[in-house]
Amino acid sequence: MALTRLFVVLLGTALPLLFFSPADAGEVGVSYGRLGNDLLDTASVVKLLNKSGITTVRLYDANPTVLGALANTGIKVMVMLPNDDLAAAAADPSSALRWVLRNVAAHYPATRIHGVAVGNEVFEEARSLTWQLVPAMANVHTALVKLRLDEAVKVSTPIAFTALEASWPPSAGRFRRDIARPVMKPMLDFLERTGSYLTINAYPFFAYLEQPDKISLDYALGSSMTGVRDPVTGLVYHSLLDAQLDATYFAMEKLGSSAGVRDEGNSSLGRGGRPRVRAYVSESGWASRGRRRPGRRLEADGDGAPAPAPAAAATIANAKAYNNYLINRVLSGDTGTPYRPDVDMDVYIFALFNENQKGWGADDIERHFGLFYPNQTKVYEFDFHGGALPSWCVANAGVRDARLQAALDYACGHGADCSDIQPGAPCFEPNTVVAHASHAFNSYYQRNHRAKAACNFGGAASVVCHQPKIGNCVLPSKAWIQETTAKSEGYAAI
Ligand SMILES: *[C@@H]1O[C@H](CO)[C@@H](O)[C@H](O)[C@H]1NC(C)=O
Ligand SMILES: *[C@@H]1O[C@H](CO)[C@@H](O)[C@H](O)[C@H]1NC(C)=O
Ligand SMILES: *[C@@H]1O[C@H](CO)[C@@H](O)[C@H](O)[C@H]1NC(C)=O
Repeated sequence: MALTRLFVVLLGTALPLLFFSPADAGEVGVSYGRLGNDLLDTASVVKLLNKSGITTVRLYDANPTVLGALANTGIKVMVMLPNDDLAAAAADPSSALRWVLRNVAAHYPATRIHGVAVGNEVFEEARSLTWQLVPAMANVHTALVKLRLDEAVKVSTPIAFTALEASWPPSAGRFRRDIARPVMKPMLDFLERTGSYLTINAYPFFAYLEQPDKISLDYALGSSMTGVRDPVTGLVYHSLLDAQLDATYFAMEKLGSSAGVRDEGNSSLGRGGRPRVRAYVSESGWASRGRRRPGRRLEADGDGAPAPAPAAAATIANAKAYNNYLINRVLSGDTGTPYRPDVDMDVYIFALFNENQKGWGADDIERHFGLFYPNQTKVYEFDFHGGALPSWCVANAGVRDARLQAALDYACGHGADCSDIQPGAPCFEPNTVVAHASHAFNSYYQRNHRAKAACNFGGAASVVCHQPKIGNCVLPSKAWIQETTAKSEGYAAI
């Protein structure tokens, strides 16, 4: 029975865990790949970045022309020491120092370099370098220390998500056995010691392509209304990216305990065994068209491979939905995950341009990840300034009915329009607490001008970027003129 009562229930102290501390804000940037023969000159690219409000970029090298063009723009840059230079940097500290002098120190601070990626997807793309990876990172860091750049410039290495051998449910997340203790453990200790972060290339898009029968598209796009529950933790995931991030956190955590590390306050595990190192997303994105090689992820080389398979999910609409979800997610400050609601997260969207020298041919999905065509036309609408795109607030299905009902009563008593969910009204059916709560939460959220804090209700609500349909009713997204002053964060205090 979900009849809405239009008064506020005093909750007393029964719901002390409703108060969520908001995550620190992260930043959303773009990966500026240049594997194309028709790309814009760098000066025009910098103008385009500026005009688009893009304030952070990741490069796949440390090209001096690009770094020069980015000087004095305020744009933050993550440069990369390519896999080809990794062995030398690992073997010889003076080689690492020379690389840092030429590719970082020579440009800093005019160019705001704030990170060095040492290699890219080494476990996938340069397996023979696996054992040299952490030594190379350490030598690059030592060089930065020598040049007094180690505070400003952090060292990490983007790993492919395949570094995890288990990722569902997220609580089962663990790193591949062969790299977990010998490589990931020392890497995490290094990242912790140097105040850096783990960077992963995480693509719900590819997970969905692999298992379209098991994964819902909405979930892959970050906007599942019902969500998927981790049966072990009970946490509900509305976004596959969150599940991938939490799998990574659990893998980090497990590694600590399986290596027998106790929390001394200086291991990469924080109090209670939770990793203190944050996981940032060094690449994520969604192709807007194309086909792929079956069984291959990136950089299909194709010898004798079967014919390209269609990738039905590679559409402009889906790419637009996913990348706007990423942008809005970070800009709204809502970067925490269900397991780590407190963490901040930087995200680099892959990629700035469609790149016509990637993959196996014109139709390869690899060539269609760009936000822009090479002629500066947007492939679809997006907005790094924030706030321009619609969003909705829905109830989390995993939350107990009693908590949802309490939050529903609060919303209806604090300015939400709950007339449509009264008996006989058009949105009364389906008559469930979660459906009624979604109507009330959304109304409250829209009336508060989609302030992030107005879609919280102690963790009972989530922002989604797809217009939800409940029974016969779509949730509206227009901002009403009428304003209420309460935010749902105040809800926890009553
Ligand atoms: C674009 O450039 C102008 C002038 O240099 C600067 O004031 C502005 O902050 C830049 N915008 C972004 C998003 O970096
Ligand atoms: C942890 O750090 C403290 C002080 O920084 C130090 O005294 C202690 O020996 C360290 N413990 C370990 C296990 O490294
Ligand atoms: C830019 O390129 C795209 C894709 O080739 C094309 O559809 C679009 O019309 C072009 N825009 C301009 C302004 O030339």
